Amino acid sequence: MLFCATFLLDCWWRQQIKMSNVTEKRLKLGVLGSGKGSNLVAIAEAAQAGTIPVDIVLVIADSPTAGILERARSFGIPSRYIFPGNSKTRLEAQEEQNYIAALKEAGAEWIALAGFMRILKKGFLTAFLGKVVNIHPSLLPMFPGLHAWKQAIDSGVKITGVTVHYVDSGIDSGPVIAQRAVPVLDGDTPETLHQRIQLEEHKLYPATLKELALGEKAGSPYS
Ligand code: GRF
Repeated sequence: MLFCATFLLDCWWRQQIKMSNVTEKRLKLGVLGSGKGSNLVAIAEAAQAGTIPVDIVLVIADSPTAGILERARSFGIPSRYIFPGNSKTRLEAQEEQNYIAALKEAGAEWIALAGFMRILKKGFLTAFLGKVVNIHPSLLPMFPGLHAWKQAIDSGVKITGVTVHYVDSGIDSGPVIAQRAVPVLDGDTPETLHQRIQLEEHKLYPATLKELALGEKAGSPYS
């Protein structure tokens, strides 16, 4: 009898520890974007539905008219335009510090780029070491850079896809975390292919963030 009670108590206790680990593993996410924000919507919907343990703590855009800001507002997510500096391709030194400060103040621990059209440099990447990820519309290392879906059509490949990868200071060059293939169909135009790629992005990004949150992905190469 005593053995049975001790056994049950032990099971209950282990269950409590398991549950507290799960609740602790919520990923505090900052999102950077320049565009319409469809990936933000996919992540926010999954987070709101409770299917991924992610809290989006702040969305920052480098343009005051980026649709991603409005989309964040529609989910009640704090969002800000922060001036990126005069360079068109990167954050300038002081502006980089402003981005880091806003994200840290909001409690962001991980950063997801969702169509952010600037290269991040050492200062930013060190501030969130090994915790900056991006989504790209191709099977990297093929077709880095702009209009990857058009590059795929022009090259004649029959399969392209989507990649979530860690960000380094190159262009779409960091270590791959997850990929999904998308077939290039006869008659595809850049627009039709891009649409199908985006549908896959909207599944892969939330799923990968969930795995990162739960520690189910192989360790970051930076840790
Ligand atoms: C996506 O296609 C993503 O792969 C690329 O930029 C686009 C952003 O789209 N990095 P959205 O703003 O999330 O709709």
